[in-house]
Amino acid sequence: MSDNLKYGSISSREAMELEENYGAHNYHPLPVVLAKGEGVFMWDPEGNRYYDFLSAYSAVNQGHCHPKIVNALIDQAKTLTLTSRAFFNNKLGEYEKYITEFFGFDMVLPMNSGAEAVETAMKLARKWAYQVKGVEPNGAIIIFAENNFHGRTIAIVSASSDPDCYEGFGPFAPGIVRVAYDDANALKEYLEKHGKNVAAFIVEPIQGEAGVYVPADGYLKACFDLCKQHNVLFVADEIQTGLARTGKLLACDYENVRPDMLILGKALAGGVLPVSAVLADKEIMLQIKPGQHGSTYGGFPLACAVAKASLEVLKEENLAQRAYELGEHFRNELRKIDHPMLKLVRGKGLLNAIVVEPKDGYEAWDVCLKLKEKGILCKPTHRHIIRLAPPLVITKEQLDECVQIIKDVFNEL
Ligand SMILES: Cc1ncc(COP(=O)(O)O)c(C=O)c1O
Repeated sequence: MSDNLKYGSISSREAMELEENYGAHNYHPLPVVLAKGEGVFMWDPEGNRYYDFLSAYSAVNQGHCHPKIVNALIDQAKTLTLTSRAFFNNKLGEYEKYITEFFGFDMVLPMNSGAEAVETAMKLARKWAYQVKGVEPNGAIIIFAENNFHGRTIAIVSASSDPDCYEGFGPFAPGIVRVAYDDANALKEYLEKHGKNVAAFIVEPIQGEAGVYVPADGYLKACFDLCKQHNVLFVADEIQTGLARTGKLLACDYENVRPDMLILGKALAGGVLPVSAVLADKEIMLQIKPGQHGSTYGGFPLACAVAKASLEVLKEENLAQRAYELGEHFRNELRKIDHPMLKLVRGKGLLNAIVVEPKDGYEAWDVCLKLKEKGILCKPTHRHIIRLAPPLVITKEQLDECVQIIKDVFNEL
């Protein structure tokens, strides 16, 4: 064991070697090892402190190791963790009532990862199409948007336009089509031709993984209205945009759109457990009958306690309003940086991105490495976009300090 370790028992170098040698190479992480997190900060084993500007892809909206969420975890972990759904448990119903009232839906179907929740929404949409809408057997179509990201399962990558996501993983699931994002006309044209067989349109209100692509105002509402005209379910994947991240509880709230199905994940458990959910009204939710869908862990007591506490924190700490105000300030400040590599700043609330113009061999990855040296952790999405998404508990003073660091890094390039 090295002498200069502050957290844990292995050094950054050793931790990276172990991952390289024993873990699948399905990620390409920034060369930093994290050993501790608290609020907006993370530390490496040697004790260097970093601002977290990724928030685990918006799973840590409430901040790292939020005391209320961690206490909920500990209390429940000492009492009852997993029962399976073969039996009732005394936490699930209470959580279901809380989350459905929180978002204004009749019912919830609890799952674990985001991808599972998207799959769940796809299955619900298909059942609804056959049993309610009257689509002929095996004829249901689900529409996605170009450049979407909804997870990594076979059905979901069947909807992807990103070769990294789908290449080499075929054959793909049928009954899936894509239309251009941020183009309600593209959806309209498709629905006019094939609307009678369409079960659902599944969309991200802001495309996070595509590079925090914010559609034009009115896009979601226009798509929602088209879906209503054609008796198609409008499904919002708010796994990344939801739960206060974009300055409202849900990004759909900006356009007063209430989706037919709402998909949540990530911050639903404040970065403590994988917890996801699909919310819908009875007409949709009750199409799935006992034995037709589920997950051993879905709705387990530990998840229910943690998710309820995570939602309470959003409300108690007024995180949506915080994200809204800080986001406006952040983008205004970033836009003052005058540098040829900084092409564009975009986002909503505290889900933001800088679009970088490569220069002298420097790309987004190099900017991230330099930010890391100066104590800010973020990750490029694609080669030219840097997502900036700190935990929503960040203070204005901390944000200003980070703006200065970002400014310094650009000036040194
Ligand atoms: C919009 C969206 N949907 C789905 C997912 C998949 O979630 P998970 O990685 O928990 O499966 C993600 C993950 O980044 C996402 O951003």
